[in-house]
Amino acid sequence: MRSITIDQLLQNNARWAERIKTASPDFFAQLARQQAPEYLWIGCSDSRVPANDIVGLLPGELFVHRNVANLVVHTDLNCLSVIQYAVDVLKVKHIIVCGHYGCGGIKAAIDKKRHGLIENWLRHIEDVYTKHEQEFDRQMNEEQRADRLCELNVLEQANNVCRSTIVRDARERGHDLTVHGWIYRLDDGILSVLAHATNGEHR
Ligand code: CO
Repeated sequence: MRSITIDQLLQNNARWAERIKTASPDFFAQLARQQAPEYLWIGCSDSRVPANDIVGLLPGELFVHRNVANLVVHTDLNCLSVIQYAVDVLKVKHIIVCGHYGCGGIKAAIDKKRHGLIENWLRHIEDVYTKHEQEFDRQMNEEQRADRLCELNVLEQANNVCRSTIVRDARERGHDLTVHGWIYRLDDGILSVLAHATNGEHR
C-alpha cells in the first residue's frame, strides 16, 4: 500500500478540480446550482468499492449511501432518510443495492468471534443467514459460505428497499422506480446482476 500524506490529499484535490475545469469550465458552477442524479447507490463502506468509479459516473450523477455490509434496516433513519430524499425529492429512477464478495462485515457476522459494538449491526446479517440456512450445505468451505451470504444479503436488502413505505408509496403514486441487486468482485473489478428490476417479491 502506498502512503499518502494529508497534505497530498489537498494537493490532489486542487489538481482534480483544475483538470475538470479545464475540460469543462462550467462543470462546478452548474452542479452547484442543482443535482439531478437518476441513480441511488446503496453499497458497502469498504474502501475497495468506490461507487462512482466502478460505474463511471461523475459528481452529480449518483446519490450514495454506504454502510458496513450495505444493509437496509427498517428502523435505520439514516438510510431511510437517504432513500426518501432520493425518491421524493431527487426523483431517482433506479435504486442499486450493491454488495461485494469478500465483505468483511459478512465474514464477521458468521465467524463466531466477538467484535464488540458492531455485532449489533452485523446481527441483521446473521438473521439473513438463519433465514436461508438450508442454502448452505456442509460441502461449502468458509469462503464459499461467506460469498453466498454476500449474494443473499444483497437480495434481502433489495427486498427491504422494495418493502419500505417510501418505495411502496412512490410506486402507488405511479413513480417509475426500479430496484436492482448487484454484487461486485474485488479481484477483477466486475459487477454482476443478482436481481434485475426487482419488485421485492423474490425469495
Ligand atoms: Co463490505
